[in-house]
Amino acid sequence: MARQLDEQIAGRFPVGQRLRVLDVGMGQGTQALRLARAGHKVTGLEQDPKMVATAREALAAEPEGIRSRVRLFEGDGRETGVHFLPGSFDVVLCHGVLMYVEEPDALVAGLARMLAPGGLLSLLVRNGDALAMRAGLAGDWPGALAAFGTSAYTNRLGLDVRADRLDTLTGTLAGIGAPLHTWYGVRIFTDLAADDAPVPDDVEALLAAEERAGRTDPYRGVAALLHLCGVRG
Ligand SMILES: C[S@@+](CC[C@H](N)C(=O)[O-])C[C@H]1O[C@@H](n2cnc3c(N)ncnc32)[C@H](O)[C@@H]1O
Repeated sequence: MARQLDEQIAGRFPVGQRLRVLDVGMGQGTQALRLARAGHKVTGLEQDPKMVATAREALAAEPEGIRSRVRLFEGDGRETGVHFLPGSFDVVLCHGVLMYVEEPDALVAGLARMLAPGGLLSLLVRNGDALAMRAGLAGDWPGALAAFGTSAYTNRLGLDVRADRLDTLTGTLAGIGAPLHTWYGVRIFTDLAADDAPVPDDVEALLAAEERAGRTDPYRGVAALLHLCGVRG
């Protein structure tokens, strides 16, 4: 997914331009720090104080040049307008967050408003068109059957959350002036791997296969996650 994001950034902005990046629901700040290390000016917004503390700790271990490019805020991603001016970012990320938001349209519209014209909106969501895949591949037939015709699912943490459909989000993005530019599938072959599984020896080949499938029909359509990139008109 990071590779897909870098590809989209490289395709839109001149090499070496210091971009203003907003990461909404940044968690422990993995992407935020990675992009700051790449030279960008990053703002993180996260509602969970524990996550914000973890991200601050990680940031404190970075060299001053990187620390000075990062601002971290505790707050709700649905309230970006309270913290920031419209049009003040080149890239807005919202990865792994929409699952937790009951009515995502207002959040996504708020994110699009944060973008300058030509800016990139990067969303990572659970694929609501392929919810039966995980249970089905695991041989959980009742679970697979129950996953049809719903956008609700239980995540690995045991939380009841929701998935998004490509068609619906495509319509949402068009309606808020940040139409879909590209989309990828993420976690096509690897969704059943445990979070704490050891890194396999052939990880490079695995990543290459995932990458290829993530941009190829029909594989990307049944990915566990969808990575949608909209561009502000
Ligand atoms: C699965 S984690 C993803 C973290 C990070 N974006 C990543 O991709 O690794 C989801 C994060 O979104 C945060 N979150 C959920 N709803 C939010 C909201 N309305 N506003 C801000 N953060 C939110 C959670 O606290 C959590 O840290």
